[in-house]
Amino acid sequence: KVGAVIEDVERTLSTPTALLRGIADAMVTEMERGLRGDIHAAVKMLITYVDNLPTGNEQGLFYALDLGGTNFRVLRVQLGGKEKRVVRQQYNEVSIPPHLMVGTSTELFDFIAAALSKFVETEGDDFHLPKGRQRELGFTFSFPVNQTSISSGTLIKWTKGFSINGAIGEDVVSELSKAMERQGLDMKVTALVNDTVGTLAGGRYVDNDVVAAIILGTGTNAAYVEHANAIAKWTGLLPKSGNMVINTEWGSFKSEKLPLSEFDKAMDFESLNPGEQIYEKMISGMYLGEIVRRILLKLAHDASLFGDVVPPKLEQPFVLRTPDMSAMHHDSSHDLNIVGVKLKDIVGVADTSLEVRYIARHICDIVAERAARLAAAGIFGILKKLGRDKLPRGGGKMPRTSIALDGGLYEHYKKFSSCLESTLTDLLGEDVSSSVVTKLANDGSGIGAALLAASHSQYAEVD
Ligand code: BG6
Ligand code: GLC
Repeated sequence: KVGAVIEDVERTLSTPTALLRGIADAMVTEMERGLRGDIHAAVKMLITYVDNLPTGNEQGLFYALDLGGTNFRVLRVQLGGKEKRVVRQQYNEVSIPPHLMVGTSTELFDFIAAALSKFVETEGDDFHLPKGRQRELGFTFSFPVNQTSISSGTLIKWTKGFSINGAIGEDVVSELSKAMERQGLDMKVTALVNDTVGTLAGGRYVDNDVVAAIILGTGTNAAYVEHANAIAKWTGLLPKSGNMVINTEWGSFKSEKLPLSEFDKAMDFESLNPGEQIYEKMISGMYLGEIVRRILLKLAHDASLFGDVVPPKLEQPFVLRTPDMSAMHHDSSHDLNIVGVKLKDIVGVADTSLEVRYIARHICDIVAERAARLAAAGIFGILKKLGRDKLPRGGGKMPRTSIALDGGLYEHYKKFSSCLESTLTDLLGEDVSSSVVTKLANDGSGIGAALLAASHSQYAEVD
């Protein structure tokens, strides 16, 4: 019986390469619809007002505030221009108390502004702000926002377990500015960016060939550099650079091509945002452990995996977190000791047999592999959109293409990231993939936001 259930799970969660190619094509189609402004497009393709990425010339003291991942961070950086680059930086990381994720907007923004204010107080003499100038801030806000300028935009919806009444439709910069005022903090937000856009900017600062950035963390998303004249819904002047960074919000991608299992459907149905963020729910760190839990629960119910009684703890949504899943998955000891300990601590079953441990690890493998392969299909889709998925027509050298990646899932879940990379190589083929570089841009989004705050500084002209 156990074998039959597992085979069924393997079948419904399998992602053959041909399926991934179909998903990438569907992603490109939705991206094109999004760029046309089709309201039914599965990906929103948000205009970011970032039409220039960092050059290296940025100078001065800038702050960044990063909200939307597992942790909330504040950062200050002294930029020294072309020669000196990042002269020094300091940051502080605070985890967001869960009640604030579902409380009121004022509470959340007051909490952030208070942490920022405390951080500003610790600024030492080794950071330098010219006399008479206001401190400036890049605000990384990792949710879908309808930007109205580089430094303003209204929240479209919450994702990733945030659910705060009254914030949707509000300008997040003005919410933050009001909270800063309440703290007596004199600071101006000069750039509002998504984490993908911050990561893209931070990535470009260190590597000129970075054209896209992907976040694989609590949530998942991608941003890339688009030709402004390919954005039919853009009604403004064509930027001088000819380019515009697009925040795809690919987490909301859905398509008939995306095979949803019973586990995905049930998890979505019971989530805070049913019907939304379907691709994200199959891929990102917030959800992978929960999918594993649901499969183990089915194995417990239908095939008595843990004996006659279904362990009550296993019935509890989100009890199995993705870091625990990763620890089980990476256990290569002969007795799968770590898997045993996790099953004991999390599921509450002491003394599992080696066979049960193997099965639990195998389920982690199935779920992580599917996620990594789906994410690779998305990246392949972006490369297709950029025309970087094949060798140039009529010969010629393939340009080097760099993709900056960040997020806890990509950084810490090694089997996930290596599967993602090998799948991407497989989709691109050896010749093309040798010119495509994927690299971790750890905390690039903080620096990226500060760099964009610098290039949009209110003092930019006087410099
Ligand atoms: C960080 C970036 O490194 O990764 C953030 O600086 C981003 O901007 C985050 O939101 C995502 O990671 P996670 O795993 O915390 O969701
Ligand atoms: C969610 C958010 C998106 C963000 C991503 C990664 O998908 O909607 O804006 O970039 O998570 O943090």
